[in-house]
Amino acid sequence: MLGAMTSAVTIRGLRVRRGRVQVFDGLDLDIAAGRLTGLIGPSGCGKTTLIRSIVGLQIVQGGDVTVLGRPAGAPELRHRVTYSAQNDGLYRDLSVRDNVAYFAQIAGLPGSEVDRVIAAVGLAGQAKQRADSVSGGQFRRISLAIALLGRPDLILLDEPTVGLDPVLRADLWDMFARLARDGVTLIVSSHVMDEASRCDDLVLLREGQLVAATTPAGLLAETGLADADQAFLELIHRAEGVQP
Ligand SMILES: Nc1ncnc2c1ncn2[C@@H]1O[C@H](COP(=O)(O)OP(=O)(O)O)[C@@H](O)[C@H]1O
Ligand SMILES: [Mg+2]
Repeated sequence: MLGAMTSAVTIRGLRVRRGRVQVFDGLDLDIAAGRLTGLIGPSGCGKTTLIRSIVGLQIVQGGDVTVLGRPAGAPELRHRVTYSAQNDGLYRDLSVRDNVAYFAQIAGLPGSEVDRVIAAVGLAGQAKQRADSVSGGQFRRISLAIALLGRPDLILLDEPTVGLDPVLRADLWDMFARLARDGVTLIVSSHVMDEASRCDDLVLLREGQLVAATTPAGLLAETGLADADQAFLELIHRAEGVQP
C-alpha cells in the first residue's frame, strides 16, 4: 500500500444548471488516482453532467473542478484526459482501424499507437472489419481503444456497457480493472447497480446529490446488506429520512 491516496479529481462546491434543471447545487467530491471509480445512479441523476464537468466541457455556474492538479479543461490536460461520450462518434462504414486512426491523426499520434491500442483491447483480429460488422461488445471496445490513444492518465467512459449482455459487460469491466491496475485512473458511469461490485471506488448519485462515496465492501458493510442494489436503496432511504 502506498502512502496517502492522491486525488485525480477534486470537486468543491460545483453548481451546474442545465436548462431549467439545477443538476448540482454545491457538490463536493474526491476521486482517487490509479483506481477504477464507478459513477453510479439512475437515469437523470447527473452522471453525464459530472463527467462533462470533469472533462471541462460543461458550463458551470460555480465551484472548482481540479483534474490532475489543473483546472478542468486546462490545455495541459488535453493529452492526459480522454473521454468517451454516450453517443460516440464512430464511423460505422469505416474499418475498426480507420476509426481509431482517424482520432490518432487528430491527436498527432503515429500508426504504431493505433496498432498498440487496438491490440490492447483485443481487436487486432477485427482491425480490418467494418465497424458496423463487429459484435456489440467489440464495437464498444473501439471507443475504449480510442480512449487509450496517447496513454492518458485519466479516462472517463460514459455508460460504456449499456445495452450489452452480461458476459460482454463482464469482459469490459475486466478490461477496465486491468487498465486501473496498470496505473490509469478510470471513471466509468453506469445506471446498473450490479456493476458497482466491479469498481474499486463508488460514487453513488441520486438527483444531483452524492448519496455515498464508498467502496463495494464499504457499501455492504455500512448497510449490512448482501446486495449492492438493496444497499443503494437503503442509503437513499436513510438520506431521505434525515432530510426535512
Ligand atoms: N441539454 C439539457 N437541457 C436541459 N436539461 C438537461 C440537459 N441535459 C441534461 N439535462 C438534465 O440534467 C439532469 C442530469 O442529466 P444527466 O447528467 O444527463 O444525467 P444522467 O447522465 O445520470 O442520466 C437531468 O435532470 C436531465 O434531464
Ligand atoms: Mg448520461
